[in-house]
Amino acid sequence: MAINLSLLLSVLLLSLSLSVVFAADPSTLLDFCVTAPISQGSPVCKDPKHVDANDFFFSGLHTAGNTTNPAGSKVTPVFASQLPGLNTLGISLARIDIAPWGVNPPHSHPRATEILTVLEGTLEVGFITSNPENRHFTKVLQKGDVFVFPIGLIHYQRNIGYGNVVAIAALSSQNPGAITIGNAVFGATPEISNEVLVKAFQMDRTVINYLQSKF
Ligand SMILES: *[C@@H]1O[C@H](CO)[C@@H](O)[C@H](O)[C@H]1NC(C)=O
Repeated sequence: MAINLSLLLSVLLLSLSLSVVFAADPSTLLDFCVTAPISQGSPVCKDPKHVDANDFFFSGLHTAGNTTNPAGSKVTPVFASQLPGLNTLGISLARIDIAPWGVNPPHSHPRATEILTVLEGTLEVGFITSNPENRHFTKVLQKGDVFVFPIGLIHYQRNIGYGNVVAIAALSSQNPGAITIGNAVFGATPEISNEVLVKAFQMDRTVINYLQSKF
């Protein structure tokens, strides 16, 4: 009897944990829903009779992004806006180029987990967990290494080698979105008031003004 009870309990706990652990993307209702070009109006599915292979195709990731900018990095997205066939499929891709000692600044994707692989170079990566722990996970990646940034968490990449970094990131949304922390906080339009930023960051007004001028 005691054995049966504990067995029952473990089965119950198992099924409970299973229902908690497993979640899935919503399933699509159609084979695909290629969006008409944005210029043609609302994001309705293109008539399948007019869909062809080019709707599922993108060319250009062989070309390095231009990293001549203050961060020294460039992300080339292949999201639904670049590849209309991605619409409703919950997946997308980006090429990341980073010049030596350049960074892809701290940012988060509100709608996607990101899995990244390094094709070239040496890349320091990291992400930070939510409050109150704000635990920092960081790792140095070499060619062929893979790292995952969980959905919504702030993360960054930095080229710590002497050559260029080329990485490919896959994202679990057709439109992952990106919130770059510096730009969002110090470059908002209209700007966040000095009073808020001075208190929030415990910094002098002149420092806040300087940061706002940079973004
Ligand atoms: C790269 O970007 C910089 C800065 O915007 C620009 O001056 C330069 O011409 C660009 N290089 C190429 C190859 O497009």
